[in-house]
Amino acid sequence: MTELYDLVIHGGTVATASEVFKADIGIRGGRIVALATDLPRQGEEIDATGKLVLPGGVDAHCHFDQPTSDGSRMADDFSTGPLSAAFGGTTTVIPFACQMKGQSLREAVRDYHERANGKSVIDYAFHLIVTDPTEQVLGQELPALIRDGYTSFKIYTTYDDLKLNDRQILEVLALARREGALTMVHAENSDVIAWLTDALERAGNTGPRYHATARPAIAEREATHRAISFAEVVDAPVLVVHVSGGEAQQQIAAARQRGLRVFAETCPQYLFLTAADLDLDGFEGAKHICSPPPRDTASQESVWRGLQDGTFQVFSSDHAPFRYDDPQGKKVAGEKASFAHVPNGIPGVETRLPLLFSEGVLKGRISLRRFVELTSTNPARLYGLMPRKGTIAVGADADITIWDPGRQVTITNAMLHHNVDYTPYEGHQVTGWPEIVLSRGEVVIRGGECVGEAGRGAFLECGTPDTLQ
Ligand code: URP
Ligand code: ZN
Ligand code: ZN
Repeated sequence: MTELYDLVIHGGTVATASEVFKADIGIRGGRIVALATDLPRQGEEIDATGKLVLPGGVDAHCHFDQPTSDGSRMADDFSTGPLSAAFGGTTTVIPFACQMKGQSLREAVRDYHERANGKSVIDYAFHLIVTDPTEQVLGQELPALIRDGYTSFKIYTTYDDLKLNDRQILEVLALARREGALTMVHAENSDVIAWLTDALERAGNTGPRYHATARPAIAEREATHRAISFAEVVDAPVLVVHVSGGEAQQQIAAARQRGLRVFAETCPQYLFLTAADLDLDGFEGAKHICSPPPRDTASQESVWRGLQDGTFQVFSSDHAPFRYDDPQGKKVAGEKASFAHVPNGIPGVETRLPLLFSEGVLKGRISLRRFVELTSTNPARLYGLMPRKGTIAVGADADITIWDPGRQVTITNAMLHHNVDYTPYEGHQVTGWPEIVLSRGEVVIRGGECVGEAGRGAFLECGTPDTLQ
């Protein structure tokens, strides 16, 4: 007799963005083919009694092996980054193919595929980063790339090597509208930051903690307001990434109240770190330099409210991995260097889900359904990966994470699988941890071991982003 299923997950509590229910899951050919109680016992079996069975996480903002222009090097490539993601319950990652100014966007994508090929243990898609929207890029390369499945791109309002001017932002938004793509914006006012940085450096205030002073919430608020205004002029959707707190949140919430298609993402660093974490002894604060910077406890509370009230649709890691004790990492310009020369970014691809599960779901701040929505369903929907990814439903890829909701873990860097020499969350205690992770029906993580083959992860072409409110 032909078996109906290759694998059945028995007895677990399944959660999607809309429901929590007891069901068995039948999997065949890498897809979910049945969801019912008491499926026949055949094929491989996983007993999930007492466990939570959730769609694998979709981390829609992470940086792996992204070229840099300051001599630094990202610590995670397409082997260690996705591996670390998988251990943390994530089954799809979306890093960025970044165009260097002067470079063809096609070339940047080709190069990034070479970096990724044959390494990832889980599936991955690419966002683009557009830094040089020439006529060639806007007229030919970008429309063709969108048709080829690169349907979202990030633009910057800060960093000299990445930022666009206002006119360029409008051009990119208009193109996204014409071609049905989604623009993601890093929103911080570049001139405010440059002016404050100059003043701080002239006064000799160059330690890591001044990074937070140089990038105040007002700079983020202004650029957020501008990005939203431009999106309104063009009538295009926009997604503001890594929002750090109330100032920018108010702009987003007000725009959404007016019915604009404005979306927003936040990240663990804005819930679990503050600017005080940049004020450690010596150069240690550099470990927590990221942009926008973590702010204060009131901002943390505001971000929690935004996760609860729907201001945020997406919760990503913004994993940007630089080793601390490394001349190609945080110390690329030396330990005495100004904060302005420290590579921006912190690791978090493995800890994203456990932190939010423990502090959000188990502490009653958000429901389990909302957790799934923020960390899996919404990113899949917004970046054109639905219905394949982001849910547990018949026909979807069997990307599934089985959680032990009671397991108590003290996070240490030694237990993580990234290639970074620290975690910002060292010593943080969480309850609940991903125990078994399946990617397209194959177990890739079990019993604290990776049992999936490196390079088995597939590149995913993204469809049209679903930005209907
Ligand atoms: O500091 C950060 N966030 N680094 C990563 C790059 C980016 O802007 O997302
Ligand atoms: Zn950014
Ligand atoms: Zn980022």
